[in-house]
Amino acid sequence: MIRVRHLTHRYGDREVLRDVSFHVRKGEIFGFIGPNGAGKTTTIRIMATLMEPTSGRVEIDEVDVEVDPEAVRRRIGYMADNPGVYERVTVAEYLDFFAAAYRVPASERASTVAAVVELTDLGVLRDRLVAELSKGMKQRIQLARTLLHDPKVLILDEPASDLDPRARIEMRDLLMELRRMGKTIFLSSHILAELADMCTSVGILEKGRLVASGPVDAIARAIDRGAEGDARPRRRARLRVLGSALMVTDVLSPRGVEVEPIGDAANGNCVIAYEGDETALSELVRALVSSGVPLVGIEPERNELERIFLEVTRGEVQ
Ligand SMILES: Nc1ncnc2c1ncn2[C@@H]1O[C@H](COP(=O)(O)OP(=O)(O)O)[C@@H](O)[C@H]1O
Ligand SMILES: [Mg+2]
Repeated sequence: MIRVRHLTHRYGDREVLRDVSFHVRKGEIFGFIGPNGAGKTTTIRIMATLMEPTSGRVEIDEVDVEVDPEAVRRRIGYMADNPGVYERVTVAEYLDFFAAAYRVPASERASTVAAVVELTDLGVLRDRLVAELSKGMKQRIQLARTLLHDPKVLILDEPASDLDPRARIEMRDLLMELRRMGKTIFLSSHILAELADMCTSVGILEKGRLVASGPVDAIARAIDRGAEGDARPRRRARLRVLGSALMVTDVLSPRGVEVEPIGDAANGNCVIAYEGDETALSELVRALVSSGVPLVGIEPERNELERIFLEVTRGEVQ
């Protein structure tokens, strides 16, 4: 649904995007991740037809952004990273104004706004002034605005930044609902944890270069395969047993697993570092259980996306 090919961008003689290529399939929630200054907003502004790239191509639903920007704009709902909001109007007036701007026919405007208000759960706020609302609610209004012309693709620049945890969860639930309705969603964030539980695929941008992209589990497998010898990354998991964590050491150390108790070993918590994938982990669990170790908890020390991020980035900023 979104195809970016060999995208390069320079501001003056400063190159901020270098040969960026990726593909977002229909129905995906694609997370575009990278530290501040990596080039996310530049990429997004090019995708949203607000800027032309120095070189490279972007196609949205098979329409080239430079060949037919009008047609691209009809297909996308774009939300800027720091959108201005007209504050001295009510929520309903605000959405009605933008429905007109998006050329929703006058006869359909009221029903379109009502449908979007319902979908984004803004009903109780219809008659409130936008100025009075919390940051989370303003973000929700911005998202509602991007939906008025029923776009196939949503392009959202840092939609969850500065939101409190509750507003972030609500934003995530709304995006998942939109995905179920068949929308393709592209969103950026410099905060990994914001995206960890909602993206089907990610692209990781660092200093203007795409260092990884694709489905989260496929990237994780590629990292595990790519690493060899001593440099092979170990996965880490937290275990909890009833009794002393030293029971874990006794069983797993002979199998080449590092075991570090967390705090007092007697409390039964430890972190293990092991080689291989989840199949390897399941074998370690079996060894513990068949040795009579009362294992009661097991979880990855980091979630998959955090692990990928640490593996492919070097923490540099542009
Ligand atoms: N209009 C501009 N003129 C010159 N440099 C810019 C402009 N906009 C962004 N930059 C620079 O381009 C780089 C990428 O910025 P940006 O795309 O905003 O990154 P991100 O959204 O990932 O934080 C940064 O180094 C930034 O300072
Ligand atoms: Mg940005």
